[in-house]
Amino acid sequence: MEIFSTIKETKECLMSLKKEGKTIGFVPTMGALHRGHASLLERGEKENDISVSSIFVNPIQFNDKKDLEKYPRTISEDIIKLKSAHCDVLFAPSVEEMYPAAPIPSFCDSLKEPEKRRQKKTEKNNPFDLGNLDNVMEGKQRSGHFQGVCVVVKKLFDIIQPDKAYFGEKDFQQLAIIKHMVQTLSVPVEIVPCPTVREPDGLAMSSRNTFLNPDERKNAALIYKALMEVKNLTSPPNPSSPKGKESMKVADLKKWVEQKINENPFLKLEYFEVVNSETLASVKDWNEAIPLRACIAVKAGAIRLIDNIAL
Ligand code: PAF
Repeated sequence: MEIFSTIKETKECLMSLKKEGKTIGFVPTMGALHRGHASLLERGEKENDISVSSIFVNPIQFNDKKDLEKYPRTISEDIIKLKSAHCDVLFAPSVEEMYPAAPIPSFCDSLKEPEKRRQKKTEKNNPFDLGNLDNVMEGKQRSGHFQGVCVVVKKLFDIIQPDKAYFGEKDFQQLAIIKHMVQTLSVPVEIVPCPTVREPDGLAMSSRNTFLNPDERKNAALIYKALMEVKNLTSPPNPSSPKGKESMKVADLKKWVEQKINENPFLKLEYFEVVNSETLASVKDWNEAIPLRACIAVKAGAIRLIDNIAL
């Protein structure tokens, strides 16, 4: 595996491979790799001639400095994992390489929350028009996060120029936003959504899971269990849900999830939404939109966990 830390070297290497007619599959990451990332790399390797990954903890997508500081950085272990996943090229730049014009553009500056909410959407702090996609769910909780994601992903696409890029469905809102960004800017890359990889008890794999204490970790399995029950309750009639969606209004389902999660002393529901999978608009009535996605965010102690399921 070739490892580059500069944009110049990375571009030179990939350009010459492209000239030979090789196709490039790309998996962008922030490191702390787990089996979820491995599944993206596996798919990328199968579908392309060259498998490329990046490791870059992108400061401008964090709206909490402490969160950025404590984000796991495990580059040596990550390199071993990438090699065993047959990655051909790793791009692992410094912050200065990615954002040379100091100071680093910051969506996560020292503003207090109420100020942030008052902050007007300007071109400078919102370079991408994401419509309403970043005003809901994670976007409400993490001001500027998705703008920061789009800035770095667009930069990475410009450097790597992949044919296909692989993103996990676990970050469903991120996936919808990247698809939108690529479509509106006509970026010539195919975005490939990949299924969420789960621990044996159902918890979605995430770099943040390592921060859970044993009690939080054990109880976090309830998140996926609740989503499975939601799926069952809203599925077309079957022996365990004789009436399917007719049996429960969306509002009642939300209350049911809230109670189910919050009665667990280790968990606290941040939101549960049933949304249109493309627009991410909240659905109040089962007839409103198809296909649907149930999305959830839960705090286990200080750690925010997100998950989702197709309905
Ligand atoms: O999903 C992630 O790991 C990050 O948001 C991404 C896409 C690598 C951008 O920093």
